[in-house]
Amino acid sequence: MTVDLLIHATQLLTVPGPGPQRGAAQREIGLLEDGAVAVAEGRIVAVGPTAELRQRCSARETIDATGKVVLPGFVDAHTHAVFAGQRAGEFEQRLAGTSYLQIMAAGGGIMATVRATRAASLEQLIAESRPRLDAMLAHGTTTAEIKTGYGLNTADELKMLAAIRRLDAEHPLALVPTFLGAHAIPSEYAGQADEYVAFVVEEMLPRAARYEERAMRYEGRGTEGASSLLPRTSSLIPRTSSLIPHPSSLIPHSSSLFCDVFCEDGAFTLAQSRRILEAARRLGLGLKIHADEFTALGGAALAAELGATSADHLAATPEEDLRKLAASGTIAVLLPGTTFGLGKGDYADARRMIELGVPVALGSDLNPGTCWCESMPFIIALACRYLRLTPAEAIVAATRNAAYATGVGERVGSLEVGKQADIIMLALPDYRHLAYRFGSNPVQTVVKAGRVVVQH
Ligand code: NIG
Ligand code: FE
Repeated sequence: MTVDLLIHATQLLTVPGPGPQRGAAQREIGLLEDGAVAVAEGRIVAVGPTAELRQRCSARETIDATGKVVLPGFVDAHTHAVFAGQRAGEFEQRLAGTSYLQIMAAGGGIMATVRATRAASLEQLIAESRPRLDAMLAHGTTTAEIKTGYGLNTADELKMLAAIRRLDAEHPLALVPTFLGAHAIPSEYAGQADEYVAFVVEEMLPRAARYEERAMRYEGRGTEGASSLLPRTSSLIPRTSSLIPHPSSLIPHSSSLFCDVFCEDGAFTLAQSRRILEAARRLGLGLKIHADEFTALGGAALAAELGATSADHLAATPEEDLRKLAASGTIAVLLPGTTFGLGKGDYADARRMIELGVPVALGSDLNPGTCWCESMPFIIALACRYLRLTPAEAIVAATRNAAYATGVGERVGSLEVGKQADIIMLALPDYRHLAYRFGSNPVQTVVKAGRVVVQH
């Protein structure tokens, strides 16, 4: 068969399935020594020993990755990558002993970024966020979830969704949007948390769902603009890339919307989180929750009960709730960069989760407060040291399982026939070096949907 591209490597990791991996299967990376992958029209058409694929395929282009590791592009399952401004001052305050929740209670924290994000135009928000996506892509992330949550009113939450859609359309990195209108109680609603929750449920959430529905129709058929929903913003652009060409028309990025809630002391109670997630479920959205980041409020159990796609953070989750997660199929998205970024030591109990059969995924949690980190290789290095994952478990967590946690597990996250050809090449002799080394970028080449989009 004639193929567009053949890549052969010293170690090829296929990360086989099916579905998200749990327990002992979380270690199955599908290592092929001297393995190859063949790509046609942006998709994987064959995987196997190099000698065999060379016989079966006549390739228009071949990449010889001898001495290197080749694996699926990373999926970053949890980010807040779209925001304006920065909070270096708060970082210094935290170093001096003030806690994250204290800063938040004093009107800083998330609200500081909300003020900056509200003040930014759509164009400014996109311009500030784009370099972060460039850095993520350069570190091997080929798909990322991005949350709203720095608007906290209808206009600015929709502006954030528009920024995510625009960046998805113009950037090789594929983005999956999540509505996080319940990220903090905005100052206008101080002391009226239930009123704000009612506003989220009755006004913002349905508007966000409608906006995304229209945006997807627009992207799918090019017939209907979503811009009419957007106050004071320019229209969505059709999906053509101005920066780096990629075959987006062959394989559309667009994915449906998730809804997330920050269930935490000083943010949203368990009852309020339930109200929001149940409303989102009625609208047909996928569910996520920031659960037990600092305080065990029962968010993980709620995620299990509601059949959420993922429960994220889980640094303080009790055993009983971990068992509920294991029984439900909800994926644990662990964010060791946040614990590290806060300078804390109470990492999530990932070993226990794997023992109980909870599928574990990884995300960066890239955000301006707790973790400004664009590098999944660094997250993997942290996960092996502090979550005590093996390198193989961490790789599965950052590819296949993260793809399922992001709702795109059937399309990306592994090197299997039929999957989109999102492939990265590491200048490392052995996959374990991905966790063993840290602080420099091992990613040499990034292929998105069959095209080289990064070459270092
Ligand atoms: O996942 N916890 C809530 N959200 C983020 C922090 C966001 C911020 O501080 O701006 C997190 O840690
Ligand atoms: Fe987060």
